[in-house]
Amino acid sequence: MRTHKCGELNTQQLGETVEICGWVHRRRDHGGVIFIDLRDRAGLVQVVVDPDVPEMFAIAESVRSEYVLRIKGLVRSRPQGTVNANMNSGAIEILAREIEVLNESETPPFPVESEIEVNEELRLRYRYIDLRRVAMQEKMKVRRDVTRVLRNFLDDNEFFEIETPYLTKATPEGARDYIVPSRTHENAFFALPQSPQLYKQILMVAGMDRYYQVVRCFRDEDLRADRQPEFTQLDIETSFMTEDEIMVIMEEMIRQLFAKVIKVELPAQFPRMSYQEALSRFGIDRPDLRIPLELVDIAEFMKDVDFKVFSGPANDPKGRVVALRIPGAGDKLSRKDIDELTKFVGIYGAKGLAYIKINDLDAGVEGLQSPIVKFAPAEVWAGVLGKTNANTGDLLFFGADKAHIVNEAMGALRVKLGHDLNLLEGEWKPVWVVDFPMFDWDEKTGRYNAIHHPFTAPSCSVEELVANPGTALSRAYDLVLNGTEVGGGSIRINRPAMQQTVFGILGIGEEEAQEKFGFLLDALKYGAPPHGGLAFGLDRLVMLMTGSTSIRDVIAFPKTQSAACPLVNAPAVVTDAQLKELGIRLIKPAGKDKG
Ligand code: AMO
Ligand code: AMP
Repeated sequence: MRTHKCGELNTQQLGETVEICGWVHRRRDHGGVIFIDLRDRAGLVQVVVDPDVPEMFAIAESVRSEYVLRIKGLVRSRPQGTVNANMNSGAIEILAREIEVLNESETPPFPVESEIEVNEELRLRYRYIDLRRVAMQEKMKVRRDVTRVLRNFLDDNEFFEIETPYLTKATPEGARDYIVPSRTHENAFFALPQSPQLYKQILMVAGMDRYYQVVRCFRDEDLRADRQPEFTQLDIETSFMTEDEIMVIMEEMIRQLFAKVIKVELPAQFPRMSYQEALSRFGIDRPDLRIPLELVDIAEFMKDVDFKVFSGPANDPKGRVVALRIPGAGDKLSRKDIDELTKFVGIYGAKGLAYIKINDLDAGVEGLQSPIVKFAPAEVWAGVLGKTNANTGDLLFFGADKAHIVNEAMGALRVKLGHDLNLLEGEWKPVWVVDFPMFDWDEKTGRYNAIHHPFTAPSCSVEELVANPGTALSRAYDLVLNGTEVGGGSIRINRPAMQQTVFGILGIGEEEAQEKFGFLLDALKYGAPPHGGLAFGLDRLVMLMTGSTSIRDVIAFPKTQSAACPLVNAPAVVTDAQLKELGIRLIKPAGKDKG
């Protein structure tokens, strides 16, 4: 139907007659001459319609925004002074010879302009209009470039792309399952995979050596800007590779990805940091290393002070007392700002936010402005100022509580102030976080949970693990980029005895283990090679690479915050006949729950 794409045309086609198809982006009537900006995926081109052919001119007068046209015309230079440097085709225009209306359009619910803010529900309901916007087209292009570069890299490195089932059994990755009733097996349900974790391990037992898959994962969990109920992983598994070898090859892949798709050179070697160090310095296991602020432990100075808020946690083995120094912020943050920040840390459970403004470092306690200075003697503050490297003009914030509250509250404060005060250094800061604990203790249930997943290998023997489950470390690693966890994985358990032990520590008895994971325990008996891998959150990578604030913007058809699809109106009720066939009776049948 066409010889060229709109956005491709430029001075190379000068003098040629071309045929193009696309949408009416804008139509302007300039007293006798009509200009139509025609748009396709490649971009815009300006079409000029002169009144000398009356039938054609009449068509041009009748077209509206988003009509679909086919235009035949002559490529000519734009008159001097009308060249548009912002458009690929900005030096030329098409003098129309024929115009055909391929389809009409109703007035769209919102203009096809990237700059215009539109309510997200409306965008998702009319996603086909939303995706026509240049900004969205660009994101989709980056997404396809990303998968292409990743696939090429993995293909070149002898990974096999292998598909694994979506109708399967629960895979524990810490979320709720989406379940699907089986018609052919009465009272039985499939679960949609939270990840292909167990299939990929079984592929290693099956001798596939290196596997990957661009794969949808399903998790029924609370949604956030970087979480969707169905999302895409680049899922990877390898045999006979150590964690170090895996990290090295994956780093190379990510470096190539950034270089090829967005022309960004990531560091030749990504730094590695232990989980412990990340929590201690940044309060979080996915630190944004662009922010040059750190938590400094000051419990050592606070054990004997007359201020319970500090001395309590300082003497509690589960407590933590930290200072966060904000260089030069003394006169940037007002009382009112500090009150706001106190509310902000309150979201994370902090009971207050003590601070000290350092008006004059050399004036001792006299130079400090703060409601808490009076609670401790001068030597305490001298120790704190020394350990935090404080200077005149700085502001110190303090957090004191159970360690997990201090970490969450002060970690979030660090990120907030880093952004609010424009302190970010460098554009891209990847880091591998390693040496995670195997388990964390859940106070509520009185049980251990797996920090990664129950198939992750510990870095110790069965005996040591049984003796000290609370302090055992795992062979897991996460890739964190600018404070977002973009990927994570581990070396897996490849012996049944170790797997049984881990299940046992997690409170999964032998019978339950057999029922849920018997197939895995069986597979591990038949020569399971040492293996390990990881999965990247593809949506998150594309979100970061396109500078988007939500993964919804890089997914063609995402779900809303309440996990619905406004475009097709899913989820939806099903007919009584379908339910009957599945042997399902609803507790609250549709329409009967309102009275
Ligand atoms: P994990 O659960 O850490 O590991 O997931 C891997 C990566 O997937 C991304 N991710 C998500 N992205 C969008 N929405 C979500 N709801 C969501 N949940 C996770 C994150 C995360 O780093 N089977 C293991 C991997 C392995 O051990 O090989 C797994 O799924 O970027
Ligand atoms: P108070 O004696 O409760 O008025 O607290 C004195 C100062 O300590 C105030 O600035 C509070 O915001 C702050 N504060 C109270 N509890 C904590 C806490 N757990 N961590 C840090 N600062 C706190």
